Amino acid sequence: MRPLGGNWVADLTDSYKSPKPMWEYDGKIPYGKRIWAYSYENMVKFEESGRIAYATSGMPSYKRYLDEMPGVPLQNNWDDIKPPSSKERLGYPTQKPISLLERIIRSSSNAGDIVLDPFCGCGTAVHAAEKGGRHWIGIDVTFPAIQVINDRIRHYLPSAQYVVGGIPQTTEDAAALADLDKFQFQFWAVALVGAHSRYGKGGDQGVDGQFFFKMDSKTDGTGIISVKAGKNLNPAMIRELRGTVEREQAEMGVFICLTPPTPQMEREAATAGFFESSQGRHPRIQIKTIDELLSGNGIDCPLLYTTVTMAEAGRRSDKLSQKRPTLPSSELLRQRNLLLPITGKKLPLKTKQSELEFEPLRRAIKGLVA
Ligand SMILES: C[S@@+](CC[C@H](N)C(=O)[O-])C[C@H]1O[C@@H](n2cnc3c(N)ncnc32)[C@H](O)[C@@H]1O
Repeated sequence: MRPLGGNWVADLTDSYKSPKPMWEYDGKIPYGKRIWAYSYENMVKFEESGRIAYATSGMPSYKRYLDEMPGVPLQNNWDDIKPPSSKERLGYPTQKPISLLERIIRSSSNAGDIVLDPFCGCGTAVHAAEKGGRHWIGIDVTFPAIQVINDRIRHYLPSAQYVVGGIPQTTEDAAALADLDKFQFQFWAVALVGAHSRYGKGGDQGVDGQFFFKMDSKTDGTGIISVKAGKNLNPAMIRELRGTVEREQAEMGVFICLTPPTPQMEREAATAGFFESSQGRHPRIQIKTIDELLSGNGIDCPLLYTTVTMAEAGRRSDKLSQKRPTLPSSELLRQRNLLLPITGKKLPLKTKQSELEFEPLRRAIKGLVA
């Protein structure tokens, strides 16, 4: 027999009926307008069979055991589970509450089973499966979803072991993705550096992505991402990024490209100089090729907010960004809420055909299934 978790004791008292029988059990009488619900003889029987538990005040209660409680079978209408609490929310537009997925997984599988969520969004099912000791496969079509799941698992379940397939692993894969769909390439490249796509497809006024970081213990900073998949690069693109950084009052800008930059572009970036944070000096404009990023040569910036820590920071809005009060939680959460253009539109036939030709993705999926 297992004692019930949490509320595992039952009250031994009943409401007062006149005249109040004022007898003590083990030196205690019920509080207020309550009386003992059982006779003294029954109380002694409970005691002898080990069914009495004492609170720190010395007040006795009746011990209940889970095995003795038939419970109520779950009904079709699960209205006891509420939408994700603000503490849980990661800003993903369609996020489900983890308690819902935990219940579904617990009631339909055992530890060690495999849970498959082929439309896993920000990974609530994946999170619940990992917590519940299940193996799991999560599939989602958008890169921002994969980014949130990665951040989520690393943050909440750091010992989880998993592989991410179906996303570019080499510069050739990345070039294939850019040929297939330059917007998806852009989403992927922005997520690759831990930044967040802005305003869905196409970016906004030269801003393809944004990232936030800690300048020091009190102040946050912003970085702007510009992504170029094309082969024709020139210094004007760096000047444009610098202008965008200034316009947005950001601390830094990162230019991500598939093709190596020209020496003139490098010189142009160098003229932007450096900015200081509590963690040192960082170049204000940085150029990174996909090759460099994939080899682990990431951007030089102070401590980056992940999607999870950004959502947390959003909740602490008032304390955030002493430097620019115009960058509070609403902006951080808005970044998350707007990044998914889920339109439900059918893909044009051309894209479907080229998807079939997307060899790296096919290889990765094959690897997963094998
Ligand atoms: C309703 S959401 C899932 C939400 C998820 N349960 C959560 O808690 O975050 C559906 C997801 O399906 C993804 N999706 C849409 N079409 C897809 C496709 N063809 N293949 C894989 N994922 C797709 C979307 O990107 C979206 O994240």
